[in-house]
Order: sequence, then C-alpha cells, then structure tokens
Amino acid sequence: MASEGAGAPVADVRLEHVVKRFDDVVAVDGVSVEIPRGSFFAMLGPSGCGKTTTLRMIGGFEEPTEGRIFLGAEDVVGLPPYRRDVNTVFQSYALFPHMTIEDNVAFGLERKGVARSERAGRVAEILELVGLGGLGKRKPKQLSGGQQQRVALARALVNHPRVLLLDEPLGALDLKLRKQMQLELKRIQHEVGLTFVHVTHDQEEAMTMADRIAVMNGGRIEQLGPPQELYERPATAFVAGFLGASNLLPGTVEGPGAIRLDSGELVRADVNGRTGRVAAGVRPEKIALGAGGGANELAGTVSESAYIGVATQVVVRTKAGVMQVFAQNAGTGGHVLAPGSPVTLSWSQDATFVVDDVGGTDRDEEEVT
Ligand SMILES: Nc1ncnc2c1ncn2[C@@H]1O[C@H](COP(=O)(O)OP(=O)(O)OP(=O)(O)O)[C@@H](O)[C@H]1O
Ligand SMILES: [Mg+2]
Repeated sequence: MASEGAGAPVADVRLEHVVKRFDDVVAVDGVSVEIPRGSFFAMLGPSGCGKTTTLRMIGGFEEPTEGRIFLGAEDVVGLPPYRRDVNTVFQSYALFPHMTIEDNVAFGLERKGVARSERAGRVAEILELVGLGGLGKRKPKQLSGGQQQRVALARALVNHPRVLLLDEPLGALDLKLRKQMQLELKRIQHEVGLTFVHVTHDQEEAMTMADRIAVMNGGRIEQLGPPQELYERPATAFVAGFLGASNLLPGTVEGPGAIRLDSGELVRADVNGRTGRVAAGVRPEKIALGAGGGANELAGTVSESAYIGVATQVVVRTKAGVMQVFAQNAGTGGHVLAPGSPVTLSWSQDATFVVDDVGGTDRDEEEVT
C-alpha cells in the first residue's frame, strides 16, 4: 500500500459519501469506499444500480452532486479526465479502424509528447504483455474480438496510469473467450501492479478476478468484502441471492445462536447481534442428504432430483419451505432419489448465515433464489 505524507497509508482511490443525481433519478446514493493501491476491486450489481456512473465519476466524465473523490491524496472533483491519472477501458473499445494496432496503442503516448524512439519500445512491451506480440502491423478489423479487447487494454496500460477503470470490458466476448480473458486480466494486473477498478454484473467474473467486491443495489453498496466472505457470510438477502443460490428460511431470533423458524423448527446460527425477524440462510452445497451433517436438521420430501454431472440437484419440500440441495457426485452412481422419497436434510451451524427478514412466510418457490 502506498504511504504518503506522515506515513499513514493513503488509499489509491477514495470515495466519500458520493451522490449523483440526474434530475430526479438518484443514480448513486451515498457511496463511500477505499480502494488500496495495487488491488483488484470489482463493483458488482444488477443493471441500473449505479456502477457505470460511479466509474465515470472516478474517471472525471461525470461530476458528483455531493461528496468527494480522491486519487491518492488529491481531491480530483472538478478536474477534467485528462488531468486525472486514470485510464478507462469501456465495453465498446472504439479502436481507430484505419490505424495499425501499434499506432492505436501509441496514440496516447504521442499526444503526451513521448518521443518516437521511446514510444516504439513501450508499445512493443505492452503488446507483448497482453499477448499480441507480432500483431502490431495489423489493422483492428484483422483481429478477433478478444484480440481487439486486448488492444484496448494495451492502449490504456501503455500510459502507466495510476488506476485502470474497466467498465464491463469483456461484455462483447463469447463465454469461452471471456473466461480466458478474465484470467489474462488478472495475470496482467499482477504483473503491472496497478489498481484495477472493474465493473460487472457477472458474479462469477467478479469472484474470479477481484480481491474485494462491492455489491451494489439501488445506488448503494450493500456489502463489501473478499469474494469468500460475501459468499459465505452475505449480510443481506440481496447479496445472498446475487452471489449464487441460497435457501432462506424466515424466522425470529431466539438467542445469540438460535433462530425459531416460522414453521416451528430451531436453527442454530450465529445471529451476529441481530434480533427480531430474520431469515436463516444456507447454500445448497452445504446441505447433506441424511442426518449427521451438523446441528441443523429439517425433514422433507423429495419433489425433484436432477443428475447434472458434478452434482445432483435435489429439490426438497419441507415445512419451512422448498430447499435446494446440491449433492456432490464424488463417488459413482450419484444420489438418485425418487420424487416422493422422505429425506432428512442436515447442515452445520457454521454453514448458516443470517440476513434481515425477507418478507412474508408464504413464499414457497421463491425461497430458492
Ligand atoms: N445521463 C443520465 N441521465 C439520466 N439518468 C441517468 C444517466 N446516466 C445514468 N442514469 C441513470 O442512473 C442509474 C444508474 O445508471 P448506471 O449506468 O450507472 O447503471 P449500471 O449499474 O452501470 O447499469 P448497467 O449494468 O446496465 O450498465 C440508472 O437508473 C440510469 O438510468
Ligand atoms: Mg453500466
């Protein structure tokens, strides 16, 4: 982490109570966040939650209605984009079609007045880094989508910005190429050690790449943490549902380690200071078919069972609601349970997370989010 001034570490990017209103639309509603130098930070959330607007304010393409934005120790609000030490890679990478790849990448350096001799060396180095060594003489239309995306990345990286802003940069690529580029981007980020701020609505993409993820909803950050923490300990029903599948069982806190479900059963869970109405959550893969899987047990009836290769997906109807279970197919034969079979579900206290109440008790199918 960078330290400046009296030795206190200074975040590379810092937002303080940032609000952005467009007329009566509140696009960003009081976001505060610190992004350490050299980290890979993702903003994840559904369409319209304010990700792009937040990124554009960091880049200087939009000014906040309220709040402050710092790059290092400098308050950059009011500075135009070219005076901020950041570069942005947008989803539509807009390369210059008539220019070679080399010239596309060199463009920013040329504008900055970097000498021709130095330009050539830096361009070659960056093209090598993004895996395009030897393709510098081609034109953009002679490259695949993924290669063009790398050119856009090279064009941003060549300026050695302090922070790289990425707005759904892999959106135009097919799934296979996306996966490959996700790992490539992460490798590049490790190699160059810049701070990356990455915007996506794809939870798997965020989890693959980021050290820390801010899950956004309605212009606010609902939860911020490393991928594992968000997945294992989601703080809200929204986060639980946005990152993977979860079973949420409504109930009432009965003690520091116990929730009385509306259906009457007791579930052991660390309620983390909550009182009153809550929901106990458990991920489908943490549930064992049969007793003995931990302190929590529910009896039910299999309503569906589907063999999907690595796991068998079982839907179980219980008094507390419909539960989804992923049983790993580690052995042979899978877990083929006929519909109508009685089954006991069990899982540990540790695997149980607690979120604020998710609403009424007659949600049935919707409990599997
Ligand atoms: N220039 C603008 N004028 C008015 N409203 C805007 C403007 N830009 C964004 N908004 C609104 O602000 C909200 C947040 O938009 P934003 O583009 O930040 O969402 P997003 O999270 O990036 O979504 P997506 O995943 O679809 O790209 C939306 O309701 C959007 O309609
Ligand atoms: Mg967007």
